[in-house]
Amino acid sequence: MGHLKVATFASGRGSNILSIIDAIKRGELSCQVVLVVSDKLDSGALKLAEENDIPAFFIDQQQFDSPDAFDLVLLNALEEAGTELIALAGYLKKIRPAIIQSYRNRILNIHPSLLPAFGGKGMYGMKVHKAVLDYGCKVTGATIHLVDDQYDSGAPLLQESVAVLAGDSHETLAQRVLKVEHALYPRALQAFAEKRIEIHGRQVCIKPANIQ
Ligand code: GRF
Repeated sequence: MGHLKVATFASGRGSNILSIIDAIKRGELSCQVVLVVSDKLDSGALKLAEENDIPAFFIDQQQFDSPDAFDLVLLNALEEAGTELIALAGYLKKIRPAIIQSYRNRILNIHPSLLPAFGGKGMYGMKVHKAVLDYGCKVTGATIHLVDDQYDSGAPLLQESVAVLAGDSHETLAQRVLKVEHALYPRALQAFAEKRIEIHGRQVCIKPANIQ
């Protein structure tokens, strides 16, 4: 089976991208990260790409005269890299319709809560974990979902819960959720690589590995 070519997008440190790269190195993931895209020149994600000899691509929509021009350059970079699937990992910009159309049902995002709780515009990073604690939740978690044209609203693919413990701070909670995130992304990507994903509207199923 050929390796699934994945482009990853991140605005921040890129620990989820690292978890994907590490799973590939361990031989647990039949994917190749063909491009790391970031809207932040000083992001950890771009640094990680360099360190791992993966093409890094910085692109900032503000530097383009029109959204169409931005779409064209980004789509071209994705196509040139041979992208088959896009994995968003802490990318803070909304994905534009042209990209969604070109990669329909082939764009994933990871979110550090059990969506639809604590998602949507402006809900990212520590804000999510603070909101979970402020609400008094006993359970939170991580979600991997398909990406549509709204923030955090596409159909879920994988969700895993994490208990909120007495005395948790947003940092301790974030750490435990992140650990789960790092296991979930490789699982989701491997299911795509093995063509075990079935999409029926919002019902997205992963078939077990042994009955393909
Ligand atoms: C993760 O918590 C992810 O769920 C969210 O942004 C964070 C990115 O972290 N979308 P990292 O850059 O992968 O370390």
